[in-house]
Amino acid sequence: MKAITVEPKKPGTARFEDFPEPEAREGSVLVEAVAVGVCGTDVEIVEGKYGWAPPGKTRLVLGHESLGRVIDPGPNSSFKAGDLVVGIVRRPDPVPCPNCAVGEWDMCTNGQYTERGIKEIHGFMSERWRSAPEYLIKVDPSLGILGVLLEPMTVITKALEQVLLVGQRSFWEPKTVLVTGAGPIGLLAALRLSLRDLQVHVLDRVETGPKPELVRALGATYHTGSVLDLGFEPDVIVECTGVGSVIADSIQKVGAGGIICLTGIGAGGVTGRATADMAAAAVLKNNVIVGSVNANKRHWYRAGENLARSDREWLSRLITRREKPENFQHALERQPDDVKVIIQFSEA
Ligand code: BGC
Repeated sequence: MKAITVEPKKPGTARFEDFPEPEAREGSVLVEAVAVGVCGTDVEIVEGKYGWAPPGKTRLVLGHESLGRVIDPGPNSSFKAGDLVVGIVRRPDPVPCPNCAVGEWDMCTNGQYTERGIKEIHGFMSERWRSAPEYLIKVDPSLGILGVLLEPMTVITKALEQVLLVGQRSFWEPKTVLVTGAGPIGLLAALRLSLRDLQVHVLDRVETGPKPELVRALGATYHTGSVLDLGFEPDVIVECTGVGSVIADSIQKVGAGGIICLTGIGAGGVTGRATADMAAAAVLKNNVIVGSVNANKRHWYRAGENLARSDREWLSRLITRREKPENFQHALERQPDDVKVIIQFSEA
């Protein structure tokens, strides 16, 4: 079969190549790939900045935002041939740490977790892949290709759960929420938040393309420019850019008793002085900065329900480009109007 593979930590090594069929020990359910979403993490891996091959191997099959169709459900599974499924990304560490022991692998404390297509387990950018049934989520068949948005939806489901949990520390009546970054994660956050009794604001760099209209279609307000220039102090900020200056501005701008949830993974330092100023602002306003990564089965389950209930027409506008596997390099190059680019292996 064919797969998109990379030698992690070596830039320029990604290839669409012949690759052995998935091994039976990778799981009893055999799945045919339908599509795989591309995200910033994939770009980082291909640029040689992130990622780990499976132990004893040099190459890693890329891809963690999957959608597939069951070919062979194997023994002991409730799946049927033809079911649309998505594979869970993270596996608990083998020790296991207390969090992994109770199924909260997203909160792994010893860093020995593994992740498909990212850390030590092959991903989903291959014509066929296998999974143990407990790491597969059945997708509402009426979603079709939109099921490929489930993984990013799980990331935001966990992040918003974290915000709600932190909010319970005091009497809390949030009114305004700012989402920084109108990529897939930011837009899915805005979608979920717009269903609550909240004024939702989304800030992004771009002034044209599909993002402003996608935000307005949710009844939310679209902003460009600096967080510091906004005419209000948000009660909650969901930070989806990972950009140092946006994070620093968000910490300064958030209202008293506010919560900033960081979901973006960026790079770049902040000086010690700025850090102390930000800390002082957080102390004086009782603010919380909470980081959130990945998702456990509870979030996958909820995200599946939420995605199935979402407006299909709006969701379909998030998928702005579909590329063939052999054109994966093109899929990885960011174009101005991209929201979610997917690599399509077969029809949904
Ligand atoms: C993925 C998460 C993963 C994280 C860190 C993100 O792009 O969506 O599942 O935990 O990268 O590797």
